[in-house]
Amino acid sequence: MFKCIGIVGFGLMGSQIAQFFAQQGYDVVAVDSRKEALEKGINSIKNGRFGVKKLVEKGKMSESEAEKVISRIRTSVEYSDLKECDLVIEAVYEDIDLKLKVFREISSICDAVLTSNTSSISITKLSSAVKDPSRFLGMHFFNPAQIQKLVELIEGLLTDRKLVQEIRDWLLKLGKVPIIVKDSPGFATTRLGLILGKEAILMLQEGIATPQDIDIAMMLGYGYPMGPIETGDLVGLDTRLRIFETMFQMTKDPKWAPPKLLVQLVDAGYLGDPSVKPGSKGGIYEYYGQERASHLLKRLGIR
Ligand SMILES: NC(=O)c1ccc[n+]([C@@H]2O[C@H](COP(=O)([O-])OP(=O)(O)OC[C@H]3O[C@@H](n4cnc5c(N)ncnc54)[C@H](O)[C@@H]3O)[C@@H](O)[C@H]2O)c1
Repeated sequence: MFKCIGIVGFGLMGSQIAQFFAQQGYDVVAVDSRKEALEKGINSIKNGRFGVKKLVEKGKMSESEAEKVISRIRTSVEYSDLKECDLVIEAVYEDIDLKLKVFREISSICDAVLTSNTSSISITKLSSAVKDPSRFLGMHFFNPAQIQKLVELIEGLLTDRKLVQEIRDWLLKLGKVPIIVKDSPGFATTRLGLILGKEAILMLQEGIATPQDIDIAMMLGYGYPMGPIETGDLVGLDTRLRIFETMFQMTKDPKWAPPKLLVQLVDAGYLGDPSVKPGSKGGIYEYYGQERASHLLKRLGIR
């Protein structure tokens, strides 16, 4: 359906999404305003926890295919390099004004279908910044995007419904499982995931249980593959905080006010799991000095 995929914002999600499409054989143009982010992104695609080197080591990809994947991704600090792209996926920080500014700029450069990987921001609001809102939708990937099957497609008020169906069919062919939801703060996934994440951090704040015990409660009690504390560490605590702030800003509902402990951890440099957030002091698990629940259960042979 598309030939060249543009990625704007080459951080945690942008680099994972770029890797996914390059592995599917697509040419990718990745743009970030920071040169350092482009270097880190390529490094994580090569050598990261979900990168191609790991796939080669596991025998899931040949060395020559790994090289081809890398060669399909072109990086740039210039939006003008997106000109040839027919699909652009934006993955900059979760900030309404920043995303509006980015879309205004991209829309003046290319005629691609424009999408946002936003976790919470109104798709209708973001579409107000582009030339053709009927060709604008939410395309919400999950972390790690190379592996997670789910893609949440979000229809704004003016999004062409037929286009959403076509994109759904295309993603299905690429092995993803898309769901379609109407535009509403936090859509379906963030609205549910964030409220669980908030209660988990409030429980820590109140000293009710340790991170490990809270996660084991949800993993063994409710069959979750990963508990809410470990999920927050993987998402990135800074990104989680921005999502709470945006949800609160959009809904004015105190239910979305960020928990104090989360604000303090981010202020102190705890930005999430250091294996996926380079430069972070750690996540909640590092702050509490505990072994991650998933590692413990694996070590005990339970999961
Ligand atoms: N982290 C997750 O697990 C996750 C999951 C799903 C969706 N999301 C959403 O994806 C988006 C990105 O999140 P992330 O975790 O990858 O954040 P991140 O902080 O890892 O990366 C954001 C990147 O955007 C770049 N950037 C900032 N301003 C820019 C600009 N004007 N032009 C180009 N690049 C710019 C930054 O340099 C940075 O590299 C957010 O909207 C977030 O809500 C995150």
